[in-house]
Amino acid sequence: MLTDKFGRPLQDLRISVTDRCNFRCTYCMPKEIFGKDYPFLPKSHLLSFEEIERLSSSFVKLGVKKIRLTGGEPLLRRDLPELISNLSRIEGLEDIGLTTNATLLEKMAYELKTAGLKRINVSLDALDNNLFHSINESGISAERVIKGIDRAIQEGMQVKVNMVVKKGMNEQQVVPMAQFFKDKEITLRFIEFMDVGKTNGWDYRTVVTKKELFQKLTKHFELEPLVPAYIGEVAKRYKYVGTSTEVGFITSVSESFCSTCTRARIAADGKLYSCLFASGGFDFKELLRSGATDEEIENRISSIWNNRHDRYSDERTEESARNKEKIEMSYIGG
Ligand code: GTP
Ligand code: 5AD
Ligand code: SF4
Ligand code: SF4
Repeated sequence: MLTDKFGRPLQDLRISVTDRCNFRCTYCMPKEIFGKDYPFLPKSHLLSFEEIERLSSSFVKLGVKKIRLTGGEPLLRRDLPELISNLSRIEGLEDIGLTTNATLLEKMAYELKTAGLKRINVSLDALDNNLFHSINESGISAERVIKGIDRAIQEGMQVKVNMVVKKGMNEQQVVPMAQFFKDKEITLRFIEFMDVGKTNGWDYRTVVTKKELFQKLTKHFELEPLVPAYIGEVAKRYKYVGTSTEVGFITSVSESFCSTCTRARIAADGKLYSCLFASGGFDFKELLRSGATDEEIENRISSIWNNRHDRYSDERTEESARNKEKIEMSYIGG
């Protein structure tokens, strides 16, 4: 088994298929920075589907069981179902997921399901439309996102909802969101605001910790902890007592989970990053386009993973949060 310096196996691969998004969430792609003139990657700099499939096969040979497609907004990548369909034929790959803002999901759910997609994580930070608009700066309504979720469930896919909670942004929506998704029997996960990239204005004082969220929720709901489904699970999971509906917390800031981190990430331009907070990555696009053999690709992945010693969230300080060079969330895909 391929392991890193801390004995962590390589099991998950997150692949960003585009750095573009139709939202401008203030905590991810603030419109002042990601404006009309922002230099998004040109098409020739994106990995092609063939390149993604070839790299994915190498990762699966080395132990990856689960692939998650991300962005930016992955549904903006033309013909994405075709990629899913090809990936789902890789022998040994057990799970393919997608993380999306769901604005195109109602239209695409059938095609995605038919291509072999089983699990979707949808980002939604508020139900109140005035608030939702002020966060995503796009004019798209929460109803449109919810319609996408409903359609994906009708098609038989498993859906979870992600809500980034940030002080002064959407704390007042925590209980309404919990109630809404409890009633719909859909898992909601609250995400602590993280210091990804360097353009999102992160400050520790704006983080709403799991502890604070838990206190808020338990005033209204009785929660019971669940044992982790597998080692390395990102969310701490609970269920509403008397139901089988779950609620979770992703606690990268207040309770880091680096010791069990089995995730590698490929950005849209083919760079491999061994941590969400990395500042540099290895250029697999270059290697693929130079005519490398499968063996050369696998050797390179192995040597990068063998030398991996990332544990950013364990070591986070005010100084690193402010000054460390980090790549942007929309480019690496979360
Ligand atoms: P499943 O568990 O397969 O449903 O997916 P996931 O929760 O790993 O993926 P998703 O894209 O929904 O991510 C939810 C949140 O967890 C996002 O904010 C991610 O940035 C964050 N996240 C996922 N993996 C890591 C990680 O390795 N480190 C940190 N710090 N955050 C992560
Ligand atoms: N901190 C925490 N989560 C974030 N996301 C985007 N930016 C941040 C951040 N700074 C979330 C998105 C999406 C997931 C991939 O990551 O809302 O649900
Ligand atoms: Fe787009 Fe997701 Fe970033 Fe919002 S959080 S701007 S939906 S990539
Ligand atoms: Fe993994 Fe880096 Fe996240 Fe830690 S901070 S869990 S090492 S991606």
